[in-house]
Amino acid sequence: MTKPSPRPRILVTRAIFPEVAQRLSEHFDVESNATDEDWSAEEIARRLQDKTGALTFGLERIDAALLARCPQLKICANMTVGYNNFDLEAMRVCGVLGTNAPDVLTETTADFGFALLMATARRVTESEHFLRAGKWTRWQYEMFSGAEVHGSTLGIIGMGRIGQAIARRAAFGFGMQVVYHNRSRLDATLEADCRARYVGKEELLKTADHVMLVVPYSKESHHTMGAAELALMKPTATLINIARGGIVDDAALAAALRDKRIAAAGLDVFEGEPRVHPDLLAVSNVVLTPHIASATVGTRRAMAMLAVDNLIGYLLHGKAVTPLNADGLAARATPSAS
Ligand code: DGY
Repeated sequence: MTKPSPRPRILVTRAIFPEVAQRLSEHFDVESNATDEDWSAEEIARRLQDKTGALTFGLERIDAALLARCPQLKICANMTVGYNNFDLEAMRVCGVLGTNAPDVLTETTADFGFALLMATARRVTESEHFLRAGKWTRWQYEMFSGAEVHGSTLGIIGMGRIGQAIARRAAFGFGMQVVYHNRSRLDATLEADCRARYVGKEELLKTADHVMLVVPYSKESHHTMGAAELALMKPTATLINIARGGIVDDAALAAALRDKRIAAAGLDVFEGEPRVHPDLLAVSNVVLTPHIASATVGTRRAMAMLAVDNLIGYLLHGKAVTPLNADGLAARATPSAS
């Protein structure tokens, strides 16, 4: 029998900054995965059974089956902005609050979107591999010629906060024309602030020199870029995905890159990651990074601290900072400190 605890019990499913763990332990009884083992879904469910809250990392599937096994659970706090690991409706019905970590990563992620765009358009990693392999023996006028970035047209699909931060960099820093496509059009003031013009998806794909994907993952956005969409892009264009795996059909993209139907791609996220489609590994005109768009120490720490703010806010004071499904949340989630 576990001794009854006066403090909420929290599970941290991955290793985290020591100062974040320390802050959690000041308020909660914490079980943490300090050695960063890969816990299976079954193991997470088992460890969550007696917990009131969880600090999650955007990877743990929180759905009806898991919730049925965790009667005391009241909140899952993702330290990521993405929350496609949550079945928010099932959580709402069960009275479990989901929270994410928006805003604190916006500018850092936009920086990385631009880094990936530059590396892809200007063939940075491909040329570095060439140099490291000892193949650079002489200068040639066309060697590793890439695509122009300044003054070109950037098409952004998904114009949330990160999309807007990328648009500002493009328009004001690089003199690019920015077109965007989004579920809903931005208001005129925001459009002017981002110097971005709303267009249909097809027009965007046909006219952009660089296409940047920043759309959240959902059933609706699955394979936003499949073979048909890739076929609309200019053969000289590049595609950048910093959103989520599954937004792009990776097999179709690898074929388009191999056949030079588009010039190049930069990918930070993959379908089924950390596995990467072998056909992508086989082509040289793609820059591949392991889901690091928000990875600076300051930003990752701020993301984790926001998740902690959500746990403290909700479990100790009844109000989370960035709730996702507070509207109509069922009764079980009535916060309590025990
Ligand atoms: C996010 O916050 O969703 C980033 O993709 C990091 O996982």
